[in-house]
Amino acid sequence: MAGLFSQATLEQIRAANDIVDIIGAVVPLRRAGANFLALCPFHKEKTPSFNVNPQRQVFYCFGCHKGGNVFTFLREYENLDFPEAVRRLAERAKIPLAYETGAEPQLRSLKEKLLEIHAQITLRWQNALANEASGEVARDYLDRRGVSAEAVQLFRLGYAPDLWDDTVNWARSKDYDLATVEKAGLILRKEGSDHFYDRFRGRLMFPIADEQGRVIGFSGRILSGDEKTAKYVNSPETLIFTKSKVFFGLDKSKRALLEAGSAVICEGQLDLIACFMAGIQNVVAPQGTAFTADHARILKRYVQEVVLCFDSDQAGQNAAVRSLDHLLASELAVRVAVVPPPDDPDSFIKNHGSAAFKEVLERAEGFFDFYLARLCGLNDLGSDRGRLIVLRSMAEAVQKTGNNVLIDGYARKTALRLGVSPDSVRLEFGKRQRASPSAQEPSLVEESPVLPRSQPPTPHQEWLLKLLLLYEELQDWAVAHFEPEWVSHPLAREIVQQRFSAHRNQTWSSLPGFLEQCNGPDMRTLVARVSVQERAIPNPAQQLADVALRLRNQVLDQKLMTLVRRANDPTTDEAEQLRCLREQEVLRSAKRQPLVP
Ligand code: CTP
Ligand code: MN
Repeated sequence: MAGLFSQATLEQIRAANDIVDIIGAVVPLRRAGANFLALCPFHKEKTPSFNVNPQRQVFYCFGCHKGGNVFTFLREYENLDFPEAVRRLAERAKIPLAYETGAEPQLRSLKEKLLEIHAQITLRWQNALANEASGEVARDYLDRRGVSAEAVQLFRLGYAPDLWDDTVNWARSKDYDLATVEKAGLILRKEGSDHFYDRFRGRLMFPIADEQGRVIGFSGRILSGDEKTAKYVNSPETLIFTKSKVFFGLDKSKRALLEAGSAVICEGQLDLIACFMAGIQNVVAPQGTAFTADHARILKRYVQEVVLCFDSDQAGQNAAVRSLDHLLASELAVRVAVVPPPDDPDSFIKNHGSAAFKEVLERAEGFFDFYLARLCGLNDLGSDRGRLIVLRSMAEAVQKTGNNVLIDGYARKTALRLGVSPDSVRLEFGKRQRASPSAQEPSLVEESPVLPRSQPPTPHQEWLLKLLLLYEELQDWAVAHFEPEWVSHPLAREIVQQRFSAHRNQTWSSLPGFLEQCNGPDMRTLVARVSVQERAIPNPAQQLADVALRLRNQVLDQKLMTLVRRANDPTTDEAEQLRCLREQEVLRSAKRQPLVP
């Protein structure tokens, strides 16, 4: 994949994107000596073990062993593939990519323009809500709904005045090109003319942010009881906004999600805000749309479990069921919290308090128990037809997990509810399994998040790696005096070999560049780990000579031990014993030799 971009381009992009800026934009970093330290964004932890080394431009987490350069970080954090990560950082640094067509840079600058317009109109609408006379109606509304001033601030809520040309005039006053503001989705063009009008009129505005907190779209709620217009008007799909890939609130709930390992999913913005005010922050809202595979993929980066907390009405319950396909396929554990009718999470919290709501969340049952109960409630179990519907629906749902233990367990539960034998249900479930094509797809094997997959090298070997990776000026000496075979750890030895050959072939550019060329994640992890350690090494040349000598002698010692054992073995004949003794002498004298080629 790296072949898509030249080494020089990659190097240029890396150099233009300081790893501290990139990581610092999404993870709060704190100075600790030469490094920056943070709670790891990739696994749950209470004490920080995530290190970023600004000088070497690498990161490494001593807790979950993820590490690498700025591209690695973006790939892992944003779930991008390598070219996407490169493109993203090139875009950020305004570096044109060689293979791009002429249109690409224009697209890039259009995106930036759209982001700027969103940031500015957010401020404009916040100001209208806070200070303008016309905002009175929205202020009253928020009061009535009990939305606190802190929440208004935190979620950057605003008010779009009830006019046809407020945004249009604002755009003109800011010298924005109206066609561009149209592309941002904020204004619409009267058909066949150059006349524009506002999309959002007289609405309470909820900015929708991407994971980095940049506003990329809006959802606007009506304030009057007017039933003629939709309750919510949303931004259309734009160059920067794809509804199916965005959660409302995720930019604010990231940390809480990681800490809880679990995500509460509410339907609407106001539900999420009510949760936040009640002290429950591990919440995201897909904003009324069906849950997509992208949504599931995003959540999987943060949590292992989701708790669906949809409205108590029929639509909400159906939404819970519809969300399922992608959630189950994603291997997230799914529970369903049922807010008793007629409430939704927002009104429930207001009517019954946050403690009662937390209890509802805790009582959430596993999805299939919820689903089975619901199916049994909706169908007449006294009829063949009713039982068949339950059976088939359950079969279809559990198959989506592809998990046989789970399938078997629910076959039993379903049988119990239907009053039939478990075997007959298993048979029915089995039929579906063979028929379902998705069951044949291999499941994606994920890296274990916490355990390193192999034994680490010895401290001396790590020390050697560190010296070789961080001090370019030592390479001449190292290549001439050190044998990679002296390194017993296979991965460490591979790194030494690769480092040497980069030196010989003059392909070494930088440490982050070397990380790119590592064979696989294990190797990259090891390189990142040894190089993130911050301690500056005094007199590295001497240190290298010492550790090299030590590693060489360890190899000689092992050989010696074998010879000693052989010589002392009663089954060894006398000639062989003598030979062993002579060879021991040779090895002992070799051990006394300094390192010269
Ligand atoms: N929604 C939408 N368009 C609509 C209705 C709803 O985009 N015409 C989305 C909104 O994101 C909304 C969510 O679906 O927040 C849930 O809808 P609903 O339950 O009707 O709204 P609430 O969030 O409960 O809003 P409110 O409490 O103000 O009625
Ligand atoms: Mn509501």
